[in-house]
Amino acid sequence: MTEDIRPRSLDIVIFGGTGDLSMRKLMPALYRSEVEGKLAAATRIFAIARKAPSLQEFQGRVRQGLDTFLNSGELCDDSWAAFRQRLNPVSLDIAALDSHWDEFAAQLRGNPHSIAIFYLAIPPSLYGQTCACLAQTGLVGADARIVLEKPIGYDLESARVINDQVAQHFDEHHIYRIDHYLGKATVQNLLALRFTNLLFETLWDGKSIDQVQITLAETVGLEDRAEFYDKAGALRDMMQNHLLQLLCLVAMEPPHKLDAENIRAEKLKVLKALRPLTGDDIHRNAVRGQYGAGEVNGAPVPGYLTELGAESKTETYAAIRAHIDNWRWAGVPFYLRTGKRLQERFAEIVIQFKPVTHQAYGRAAGELQPNRLIIRLQPDECIQLQLMAKELHRYEPHLKPVTLNLDFANTYEGFSSDAYKRLLLDVIAGDQSLFAHRHEVEQAWSWLDPILQAWQHPRNHPHGYAAGSWGPQQADALLDRYRHHWVNPSAAEIGTPVNK
Ligand code: BG6
Repeated sequence: MTEDIRPRSLDIVIFGGTGDLSMRKLMPALYRSEVEGKLAAATRIFAIARKAPSLQEFQGRVRQGLDTFLNSGELCDDSWAAFRQRLNPVSLDIAALDSHWDEFAAQLRGNPHSIAIFYLAIPPSLYGQTCACLAQTGLVGADARIVLEKPIGYDLESARVINDQVAQHFDEHHIYRIDHYLGKATVQNLLALRFTNLLFETLWDGKSIDQVQITLAETVGLEDRAEFYDKAGALRDMMQNHLLQLLCLVAMEPPHKLDAENIRAEKLKVLKALRPLTGDDIHRNAVRGQYGAGEVNGAPVPGYLTELGAESKTETYAAIRAHIDNWRWAGVPFYLRTGKRLQERFAEIVIQFKPVTHQAYGRAAGELQPNRLIIRLQPDECIQLQLMAKELHRYEPHLKPVTLNLDFANTYEGFSSDAYKRLLLDVIAGDQSLFAHRHEVEQAWSWLDPILQAWQHPRNHPHGYAAGSWGPQQADALLDRYRHHWVNPSAAEIGTPVNK
């Protein structure tokens, strides 16, 4: 689908273009696209800021960012020379439609055959106003595309307002709500795995699957994002988007065609089938935590409140036991969790199958363990299948778990994953398959809104957990009740029983 993505040159306009996301993710992604020859000759990159730096200063900053965020050896003089020519810092104030906007519009019109891509790497509260400015300066041409960063709003109502505001100027076909987890290579491989292998498709339901766990664990804390994060918290920052999108890809029915319309329609059905959590169910099925001081990677780190320098009830950890009320998933719990300052950085989907129905080998042959399919998104990208096998060097039958490992770095020569590059190329190619439709975003909020509201209650406080641990004890207790336990990377090593 993204084979030839150079029909026309592009004007890539990044609002918030001098900010953190732009430097860390977007510039490296665009630079890599340059190296791969995916940017047509006349393509220009505009970095919009209220007070943009001079061209020279901006080029210096981008160069510094690339030095920091690209892998060693990736930056080469020729590609940099070409890339730096494309950069244009521009000062624009979203709050004031002044002459700078007209000058900018004239600049864009100077390249009439270009497709304009507007990337909003700014707070969602500014999306509506930015779109209005673009429309009023005549910049929303028939082909113009807009890319929106998450989270869209902070609850259902605010998300609807933002979606409506954007919809006044852009057709849904031109709106790309980005969720960078969907750009990760293993996530796309999950679709290939599910829909091209009979082996899995026939086992992909509650008759064979015991439970699904999706974990997005981070070791970082607030990272200079206190203002944003304290208003958001783990549920809005990670659960509403990344975790629920991954859940959709695991749980959706096979679309009859793998295109945007059909994939999004199937994902939406999953979100609609999520069993609502309200009243006491929230207390029983959702846990939130906030980290205190502790040690991460051998170094002492302060607690959230110290990092923030203020009192706060914002959760830095959230875990939910979810159910999808449909034929395929009846009875299968989906355990979702995410947290900051946890023991290790890892992102994983674990599909745990049911135990075999009859144990033909006697007890002396060792404890049988259920099969698990593990899709690891981070830190390394791999797909593992855990099976039971006979230990070969012993005469008497003895069984042992073994792992089939599809390790992307070792399997695909030159493999390097850049989710933002992948998704930007999809925007260029006009492929919305990996972007959320507004209905998905709103449905996700409507499932989470009751939990957010319950957690806002003055008597509801997050549970404490030590930085460097695996989260609050209450999250372990959530699974204990069902004789399940969280699969952490060390436990994922073969040989550890997964059911108690
Ligand atoms: C972002 C969140 O969407 O994802 C951050 O806003 C989080 O809080 C980040 O740190 C994690 O992304 P990744 O790709 O580093 O796991």
